[in-house]
Amino acid sequence: MSDIDSSFLKNTWYVCAWSYEIPAESLLARTITQRPLIFWRDQSGQVIALADRCCHRAAPLSKGRREGDRIRCMYHGLLFDATGKCVEIPSQNYIPATAKVRAFPIVERFNWVWIWMGEPDHADPSLIPDTHYLKDVNWRGTPGYMHYDANYLLVTDNLLDFSHLSYVHETTLGGSAKYAAIRPKITRLDRSIRVERWLLDDEPAPFLRNLKTWPGNVDRWNIYNVVLPGVLLMDSGSAPTGTGAPEGKRVDAAEFFGCQAVTPETSTTSHYFFQQSHGFALDNRDVTENLRQSVLAGFEEDRDIILAQQRVIHADPEGGMLAMRMDAALASFRTMLEKAINLEQSCVPKAMNQAVEI
Ligand code: FES
Ligand SMILES: [Fe+2]
Repeated sequence: MSDIDSSFLKNTWYVCAWSYEIPAESLLARTITQRPLIFWRDQSGQVIALADRCCHRAAPLSKGRREGDRIRCMYHGLLFDATGKCVEIPSQNYIPATAKVRAFPIVERFNWVWIWMGEPDHADPSLIPDTHYLKDVNWRGTPGYMHYDANYLLVTDNLLDFSHLSYVHETTLGGSAKYAAIRPKITRLDRSIRVERWLLDDEPAPFLRNLKTWPGNVDRWNIYNVVLPGVLLMDSGSAPTGTGAPEGKRVDAAEFFGCQAVTPETSTTSHYFFQQSHGFALDNRDVTENLRQSVLAGFEEDRDIILAQQRVIHADPEGGMLAMRMDAALASFRTMLEKAINLEQSCVPKAMNQAVEI
């Protein structure tokens, strides 16, 4: 195996697509951790992932032709099966055992397609975090995807420090400057960072006014884990102040569950998959649509500031940064990831993920 993707964690599950992005008849070409891949479904519906590079002369298989469960390179006609094995060479009968392209383990679960970029023998599906909220009758949400011209760690940094809500999302997801002043509780777990933020007795966030109203102030919470390699699972919501939300009671609450995955495409570009689901007003399509629009508007605000930040860093990589208390969660996550990558590269590959529930 070449080391073109050596700066990324490999023995872990990455979200590589929404299920709907890989329809029955066509091909999806997408790069994950610097490695061009091609995805399609076999006739049983199982998602196949192969390296997007013919073993003959390196033509991309994404320019190829599907033939049932197989794919033919449309340069000189080699035919590959779903395991990546070459099964036909038009100009010769003998097929060498080395005539194959790499296949990657895939698991499709709750509308997300997960790929294992490391050693196939270690690809244990039980290590995939629980994202059932993406496909659960008790929650409603809309799938979202954004492409980032930025390193994936800048995106996970953003998810690990919600003090930006008061500034980046002042009129959308955030609101009061009090939100930025909160000191969240940060817990370092085995393979994830847990963040808990409570803002008590404040006005509802601006986006909530289109979804649910209360006569007075609310208590707001964002309680989430960011799991290696970059999957956020977040319980969030608001409930009227004085009804016991901080003690665990959820009375007349607007509850949400967010699943977000940041997957490196290259060292300078990223995929961002997300769905914010609501657990109230389930049959009110206006609520679902308003939430979709608010989330998209908010995430465009994130992308705008992160791309601008990336351009500044790119122009002056040695310019430096100044660590602050608010960076505690993102610094812990970066340290955890760096250690995992170093461990992976220095010893026998081990499973680098775990199932996490919040
Ligand atoms: S490059 Fe694919 S068959 Fe020659
Ligand atoms: Fe944000």
